[in-house]
Amino acid sequence: MSLQAYERYQELQHYVNWSDQDAARVLATGPLVAPSFGRLVDDFYAEIENHPEAKKVITGGQAQIARLKTTLHRWLAELFSGQYDRDYVERRWRVGFRHVEIGLNQVYTNAALSRLRRGLLAVLDHNWSGAIPDLLATRASLNTLLDLDLAIIEDAYQTEFQRRNAATERLATIGRVAGGIAHELRNPLNVVKTSVYYILHAKNAPPEKVRTHLERIERQVGVADRVITALNDFARLPVPQMDRVDVETCLKEVIELTGLPSSVSVQWSIAPSSLVVLGDRAQLQIVFGNLIRNARDAMPDGGTLHMFAGSRDRQVEVAVQDSGVGIPPEHLLRVFEPLYSTKAKGMGLGLSIAHEIVTRHQGSLQVASQPGAGSTFTVLLPSAS
Ligand code: HEM
Repeated sequence: MSLQAYERYQELQHYVNWSDQDAARVLATGPLVAPSFGRLVDDFYAEIENHPEAKKVITGGQAQIARLKTTLHRWLAELFSGQYDRDYVERRWRVGFRHVEIGLNQVYTNAALSRLRRGLLAVLDHNWSGAIPDLLATRASLNTLLDLDLAIIEDAYQTEFQRRNAATERLATIGRVAGGIAHELRNPLNVVKTSVYYILHAKNAPPEKVRTHLERIERQVGVADRVITALNDFARLPVPQMDRVDVETCLKEVIELTGLPSSVSVQWSIAPSSLVVLGDRAQLQIVFGNLIRNARDAMPDGGTLHMFAGSRDRQVEVAVQDSGVGIPPEHLLRVFEPLYSTKAKGMGLGLSIAHEIVTRHQGSLQVASQPGAGSTFTVLLPSAS
C-alpha cells in the first residue's frame, strides 16, 4: 500500500465532513441490508456477463467468480462494520492495485459501484421503518462512505497504473537508446574492422594503401567518438556556466568547426550593434553546432545557409535558415523530442539537446518549415547588454 493511503483517506474524510455520527448511522443500518448482500453480489457478477471488456478479466471461470463473490460479500460486510481504520483502507487500496494487475479498466469499477449503490439504497429504502429525515441522513452517510471507498480504490488504481506505465516507458526508452547506439556504432566499427583486417592480412601492402586504411580508421574512430560525445552531452548536461558570449564570434567559430561542403553557401545578416548574451559558451556552441549541422544535412544537393542575428526586446535572436528539403508538418511538433529522427543517420538527440540547453538558459527554440523550401530554427536568448 502507498504509505500515504491512510493519510489520504483521513484527509478525504475531513474534506467531506465525515463524522463518528456517519459511522454510527452506517453501522446501525448493517442488519437492515445484510440479508440482501447475497442478491446484490449475484446481480453484480451477472451484470459483468453483459460487458465483454469487463468479462474478459475473469479468466478463471466459475471458480474465480465464486471466490470473487466471497470477496465482494466481505467487502460489503466491512462497509457496514463501522471500523474505518488503517487495515480497512489497506484492503480498499488493494482492490485498485489488483484491478490494475488483472487489466480491468477503472470505468467498470465506477459503473459497478454505481449499480451496487443503487441496489443498497433501494434495500435501505425498502426496509426502513424509521423517520424520513433519519433515512435521508443515513443515505447521505452511506453515499459518502461509498464515495470515499471509490476514491481510495481509484487512487490506488491510478498510482499503480502510472507506475507501470512509467516502467514500461523507461524500458521502451532504454530499448530505443540501445538500438540507436548499436546502429550508430556498428557502421564505424565495421569500417574499422575491414581496414584492420586489410592491414593485418594484406601481403606486401603498399605503404600508401596502409596509410589510407589507417586514415579511414582514424575518421571512423572520430565518428564513434562523436556518437559518444552526443550521448554524454545529453546524459550529463552540466549546469550552464554563465558568461558574456559574443554571438557573432560564437557563430563564426561554429561554422568554421562544422565543415560545410562547397555546395553550401553561407549568407550573413548580423545586426551592426554588438550582440552579447549571458550563456555557457561551450553549450551554446553545441546548440548552434547542432542547428548548423542539421541545416547542412537538409541540403544534400547544396543550397544557402542564411545566418541571422539581431536583437528583439531584451533578447538576442539567432536564426539558422536553410534552403533544404524542409520538414513535413506531421514531424514538426516532434522534432525536439529525444530520439525522434527522420534522418537515415543520426540518433535524434541533436535538436533535443539544443532545446534543453536553450531552455536552461531561459531562452526558447522554435522551428518553422515548408517542405521543399527549407526550415528556419530560431533561438531567443536573454541579452547581456
Ligand atoms: C464496486 C466495484 C468493485 C469492488 C468493490 C471490487 C472489489 C474487489 C476486491 C475486494 C478484490 C480482491 C482484492 C484482493 O486481492 O485483495 C477484487 C479483485 C478482483 N476484481 Fe474487483 N471489485 C469491483 C469491481 C470489479 C469489476 C467491475 C470487475 C470486472 C470483472 C472486477 C474483477 C475483479 C477481478 C478479476 C479480481 C481479481 C480476483 C482474483 O484474485 O481472482 N472487479 N475486486
